[in-house]
Amino acid sequence: MTIAVCPGSFDPLTRGHVDVVRRARGMFDEVVVGIARNSSKSALLGIDERVALARTALAGVDGVRVDVVEGLLADFVREVGADAIVKGLRGGADFDAELPMALMNRHLTGVETVFVVGDPALAHIASSLVKDVARFGGSIDDLVPDGVADAVHEAVRSKR
Ligand code: PNS
Repeated sequence: MTIAVCPGSFDPLTRGHVDVVRRARGMFDEVVVGIARNSSKSALLGIDERVALARTALAGVDGVRVDVVEGLLADFVREVGADAIVKGLRGGADFDAELPMALMNRHLTGVETVFVVGDPALAHIASSLVKDVARFGGSIDDLVPDGVADAVHEAVRSKR
């Protein structure tokens, strides 16, 4: 039984994330989506809401579960018994950001990071841009799974 961890902030989960999780599931028997609590970025959505939205959006994908990464990703990867960390790449900037983390996580655990290339039709989707579009009143319906857009709009409204 092979296990992969798909880690991230998922603030919010996007259609690009779902694509990467599905691709990871195509390569591994089980995929654990690890939602990081202690990202250096300040989150729009609370951790419980991010977990709930991800669980709903991924409920139909067999062999996928969602959990919180409380501290170091390396510790989570060890606890889960993961064989790999899987991350999606949209382009070179993603690789530049991911490479030091992949090297550090391998240093800490010996676990490899596997990079997957997502659907190019989703390559423009980033959580940061989704939040920006929502903050300025644009539609994010095509960018995030069903149910996520309402949560993002609500969070934006409540933080005004
Ligand atoms: O979606 P993101 O924000 O690009 O994901 C980054 C994330 C959450 C994977 C990274 O910040 C992380 O692993 N955070 C947990 C704390 C940790 O292990 N930091 C050291 C990373 S080498």
